[in-house]
Amino acid sequence: MIYKTLRPWFFELSKKDPEVAHEVAVGALKFMSRNKFLLSLMRGELFEGRLTQELWGIRFPKPVGLAAGFDKNAAAYPALATMGFGFIEVGTVTFLPQSGNPRPRIHRFPKDQALVNYMGFPNVGAYKVADNMHKAGTIGVPLGISLGKSSCTHVEDASLDCISSLRTLYKLGDYFTVCVSCPNSPGVRELQHKKYLFHLLKEMVDSSSGFSAALKIKRKPVLVKISPDLSRRELDDVLEAVADAGVDGIVATNTTADLDVLTSGHSLKAGGVSGAPLFMRMLEKVGYIRANLKKIPIIGVGGIMSSEDAYETLAAGANLVQIYTSFIYNGPSAANEMNAGILALLRENNFRDIREFNRFFCRLLN
Ligand SMILES: Cc1cc2nc3c(=O)[nH]c(=O)nc-3n(C[C@H](O)[C@H](O)[C@H](O)COP(=O)(O)O)c2cc1C
Repeated sequence: MIYKTLRPWFFELSKKDPEVAHEVAVGALKFMSRNKFLLSLMRGELFEGRLTQELWGIRFPKPVGLAAGFDKNAAAYPALATMGFGFIEVGTVTFLPQSGNPRPRIHRFPKDQALVNYMGFPNVGAYKVADNMHKAGTIGVPLGISLGKSSCTHVEDASLDCISSLRTLYKLGDYFTVCVSCPNSPGVRELQHKKYLFHLLKEMVDSSSGFSAALKIKRKPVLVKISPDLSRRELDDVLEAVADAGVDGIVATNTTADLDVLTSGHSLKAGGVSGAPLFMRMLEKVGYIRANLKKIPIIGVGGIMSSEDAYETLAAGANLVQIYTSFIYNGPSAANEMNAGILALLRENNFRDIREFNRFFCRLLN
């Protein structure tokens, strides 16, 4: 309510460069994250028994999580965790720090309920992120870490780069996502090609087993995040690599590089569209993946703007969902409202809880 009143003013102030709004928001969340007293005042109920499920032996208290890209440097997630997200994915982190593409690199399209971003993985690098996470500690909900190839690393050396980040951050995340689908960072989408993908994913999965054995801790799941722009044949190749490499889950999808999905006029030449125009593409990918890989956990993300969208994504085959653009347009209450809406829809459809829903859709994976 307060956010919706303040939003036009906030958007107007950052009209020339919407990233300013992002920086102000992350700055405030970072400040709150460092103040344990403030956090304790903000913290709501973390667990909602009827929405709680287990994947990879990890308890997810609610199905709606925050997508990668908002808390790139893992500096604000303790405050974000108080806003009702059932899990948070930080990053994308590259091994080397990098500044990303020139600004402005975020554009808002309110009529389309969309954003276009051309960020290119700006982040402080794996070591500094590890330092931030050591200071922040645990937050009571699962924490994913998105890993990507540094811009200056050659496509053929991507696994060395990502494994170095995995090693640096291994103890700190509950799961890791290899992002091979960012349209804004040089060479990243090439990694989805079968020439590179199996090798990269196998090395990451094997490294996860190796690090867990060396540290004598539980093996952490490795997921891969894919593009909504893959053709059927390309997606089939990706699914084959996922199955052969023993990848633990799929995050579908990243932004689309197809700027024609916007109905508003613009003069942009590059970037990735997120928000409402992405929804049907994402849903189609989730459904196709579920039809072909019955047992793999899927995180659905892309244009989920309402609890109805989230419910439809779960029904199409996802186990969890993530939001980003909806958080920007609907504000701090977005996750709580969406989780409450899912619960209401479960009840309307005569499901006692999310476990019964999963049983009905034969999606009890553990
Ligand atoms: C400004 C911005 C930055 C993003 N940065 C990343 C990123 O670093 N890594 C990543 O995997 N996805 C990134 N994404 C993609 C989101 O995680 C998500 O997949 C996409 O926005 C679709 O979800 P949505 O429609 O709910 O926003 C970014 C999205 C936006 C809008």
